[in-house]
Amino acid sequence: MRKVILIGSYFLIIIGIIIVISHNSLKDNKSAKAIVAGEKIYKVQCLVCHGKTGKGEGAKVGTAINNQHFLNTVSDKDLYNDIKYGRENTAMPSYGPRVSEKALTNLVAFIRNWQTQELKVSAPKTISGDISNGKKLYDLYCQSCHGKAGAGKVNMGTSISNPQYLKYTTDQQIWISTAYGREDTRMGPSLKGLEGVRQLKKDDITDIVTYIRSLSHK
Ligand code: HEC
Ligand code: HEC
Repeated sequence: MRKVILIGSYFLIIIGIIIVISHNSLKDNKSAKAIVAGEKIYKVQCLVCHGKTGKGEGAKVGTAINNQHFLNTVSDKDLYNDIKYGRENTAMPSYGPRVSEKALTNLVAFIRNWQTQELKVSAPKTISGDISNGKKLYDLYCQSCHGKAGAGKVNMGTSISNPQYLKYTTDQQIWISTAYGREDTRMGPSLKGLEGVRQLKKDDITDIVTYIRSLSHK
């Protein structure tokens, strides 16, 4: 009797393992399909600006969306929002009205597929600083690329006063992008101790983010 129970439970464990394995490969299959489908749409819609490898090397103006710092700072939902809503008054179109929901999620899967590393980045829990000091520092350190009051400069820096950018980006994400920068782009790190030209203190970055948050495009 004991032997039967023992054999029976082995059997159940093996069945369980088989179910887990086939479930996982089903999931892998599904995401592999989404990546392939996403790549097709990317080539037609995005490559001309963001480039073949996502480095922003397309013929028209585009930014780098393949770098590990960017990918570690945004969730799939953030990528989805970036693509769906675009960035008004920049070259980045809103794809909500142009492609299907399925196409949007496939594009997200394709871009996420560029992420190969998990980076340790963190920001203060609450970000509330001195706007006027933030503006002073912004004008000194950031304006040359990101333009007056965050308006952006083509081929230099993105618009960080853009309404869609500010709507779909948290203070923590702005802080992290400012502090850690984006490798292989002109956006170097700003946080003291990292290998950047700016060497700003945490509180200074908090002040700058507080200023950026106060901006809105007219
Ligand atoms: C005509 C050029 C152009 C096309 C086409 C285009 N983009 Fe963009 N995209 C841009 C620019 C420029 C920006 C940065 C906007 C700014 O300057 O503030 C951007 C920003 C983004 C961002 C946010 C990046 C960040 O650093 O926050 C994502 C994600 C993105 N694009 C994905 C896509 C995808 C996916 C497609 C295709 C479905 C696409 N883009 C098509 C030019 C383009
Ligand atoms: C030498 C030019 C340069 C300077 C100086 C610079 N940036 Fe950037 N910044 C960039 C570029 C280029 C990008 C887009 C990187 C990419 O392609 O992913 C960027 C991206 C960003 C982003 C992410 C925006 C987005 O669209 O996702 C933030 C936030 C940011 N910078 C803040 C700052 C702040 C704050 C400062 C000053 C402390 C600063 N930057 C200084 C060039 C610059």
